[in-house]
Amino acid sequence: MRILVTGGAGYIGSHTCVALIDAGHSVIVADNLCNSRVEVLDRMKEITGKDIPFYHIDVTDYVAVERVFVEHEMDGVIHFAGLKAVGESVEKPLFYYYNNLVSTMILAKACLHYGVNRFVFSSSATVYGDNEVPFVETMKLKPRMNPYGESKAMSEQILSDIARANPSFSVSLLRYFNPVGAHESGLIGEAPNGIPNNLMPYVTQVAAGKREKLRIFGDDYPTIDGTGVRDYIHVMDLAEGHVAALENLLEGVHIYNLGTGRGTSVLELVKAFEEANGVEIPFEVVERRAGDIAEFYADASKAEQELGWKAKRDLVAMCRDAWRFESSAGTLALSGTLGTVNVSHS
Ligand code: NAD
Ligand code: UD1
Repeated sequence: MRILVTGGAGYIGSHTCVALIDAGHSVIVADNLCNSRVEVLDRMKEITGKDIPFYHIDVTDYVAVERVFVEHEMDGVIHFAGLKAVGESVEKPLFYYYNNLVSTMILAKACLHYGVNRFVFSSSATVYGDNEVPFVETMKLKPRMNPYGESKAMSEQILSDIARANPSFSVSLLRYFNPVGAHESGLIGEAPNGIPNNLMPYVTQVAAGKREKLRIFGDDYPTIDGTGVRDYIHVMDLAEGHVAALENLLEGVHIYNLGTGRGTSVLELVKAFEEANGVEIPFEVVERRAGDIAEFYADASKAEQELGWKAKRDLVAMCRDAWRFESSAGTLALSGTLGTVNVSHS
């Protein structure tokens, strides 16, 4: 299949492009580079040996998006392009709703117009809110309390309604748990701008000496050791989940959790990182972070039964690969200034 990957220069999108190419598909990337680097395209080429057509466009711009559909015959779209910082979404709700909702509608409109019938959407476990664990796809969703989470729940609703009204348009809504790690090559990975919000990139930066110590947000939760519990999933497993979702997409709307089904506490992750990489992670326990919930992990059985997909890589692999990317030239080059790349369209 030939797939348009929006946000394909970003963290999950770039790994998914590699997994799609590994599985014999071809990809076209559309990204405005608001949270990624053009060098990632070179890295993907180095890993796969394939040239990837790249459109440096904003996918909220219908005219720009339409040009991609006119210039390429496509079998499907995977829509990663979006803004994802929870705190920023509370400060700039209009920016988040506009970017995350308009992009979804523009892409759906282009798909319907040009007869592209497979749509895979990046949703998040955040749509479950503070629910019973494990989170299962059939659960009633709870309010999310932030515009980022709402934009994901609303996009799910919009795409579901469109698919119901257009039976040939098939939609897969993928609810990610906590993606971590990097491609085994160490060439692509997560390179956040500024101070990382999420645990694993913070841990790797402490290990690299870029930050003095990890601050653990609370150790008085009702969990195994008092620290927050999450379902960490290796980004390459997540990427392969997209390939499975695309290849097994049936008519209608389908929702899948992409997680491992296992919960890991902050302290367990820190210990696993230290053991996997032979480095020490100094930490202090501080106040709980506003908006955090004690624990969540996936019921991952539906994706296994219906897509034949299951996460394979363990916590050691997640920690080892995250550190390989951070400690190699990988992050350095990706956090530098924009270089040159074979940009076929701009
Ligand atoms: P990312 O920021 O690394 O990648 C997103 C990419 O989209 C970036 O390259 C950015 O430049 C691009 N982009 C954003 N708005 C755009 C627009 N209007 N037009 C064109 N390009 C645009 O983030 P990621 O971690 O790879 O996340 C990908 C998707 O998965 C997002 O939709 C995110 O909300 C969702 N998600 C991420 C996580 C996570 O923990 N990383 C968890 C759940 C869901
Ligand atoms: C965060 C987002 C969520 C998003 C998810 C994607 C918030 C409030 N939520 O959730 O919407 O879908 O990322 O992966 O931002 N922790 C520390 N110290 C740190 C960083 C994190 O102790 O410096 C702890 C947290 O309290 C939590 C765990 O580590 O218990 C994981 O945190 P994080 O990586 O931010 O992910 P989520 O909280 O699951």
